[in-house]
Amino acid sequence: MDNKVSSMKGSCLLLLLLLSNLLLCKHVSSLPMCPSGAANCQVSLRELFDRAVILSHYIHNLSSEMFNEFDKRYAQGRGFITKTIKSCHTSSLSTPEDKEQAQQIRYEDLLILILRVLRSWNAPLYHLVTEVRGMKEAPDGILSRAIEIEEQNKRLLEGMEKILGQVRPGVRENEVYSVWSGLPSLQMADEDARLFAFYNLLHCLRRDSHKIDNFLKLLKCRIIYDSNC
Ligand SMILES: *[C@@H]1O[C@H](CO)[C@@H](O)[C@H](O)[C@H]1NC(C)=O
Repeated sequence: MDNKVSSMKGSCLLLLLLLSNLLLCKHVSSLPMCPSGAANCQVSLRELFDRAVILSHYIHNLSSEMFNEFDKRYAQGRGFITKTIKSCHTSSLSTPEDKEQAQQIRYEDLLILILRVLRSWNAPLYHLVTEVRGMKEAPDGILSRAIEIEEQNKRLLEGMEKILGQVRPGVRENEVYSVWSGLPSLQMADEDARLFAFYNLLHCLRRDSHKIDNFLKLLKCRIIYDSNC
């Protein structure tokens, strides 16, 4: 631990030497959640947030496009929109409904909530890929996006674990998440019912990825910029 701290100190000195940029370390050490002495840990925390926000934006973009593609291809004329969307499997995690609600939550709790939502999507994304692959004339615009989202969701999850590790060292969050039990509905024999189950799932994915993207931007602003953005 001491070694780590002193090597962090060392890196900060190095940074100062290299960049001759006092402001960087000064600004960074004034932020609240770094262990004292680890003046440069915020630099990499900021990098982690930058990457996470880019990733979550990308995942949301892919989810929206996948939903649109599915909607165009399968949902038209089936009246899915007028059917009520069943609740999403992540609904039990009671995520904030909007920005105002999200602002009320302690940032550690919001971080943990994001982790839980991301983890709750591991299983359904895995099965989504398998089931789409098995569809006749597996639609490439949907399959390729499902594969990419599954992959990137794991990367984002790893990134968020690193962020939590820096913000709250020692806090491990790997227990409570929302279990998905929707596989049988993706395999129903009745085509309309099956397609509606896909539609519902993709709708939930788009919704959750949008939420995560928004929460992450909010967290980045609160943690990295002390809410000055
Ligand atoms: C996704 O990103 C691409 C490239 O930036 C953009 O052209 C497209 O409109 C975006 N799609 C959605 C649904 O936002």
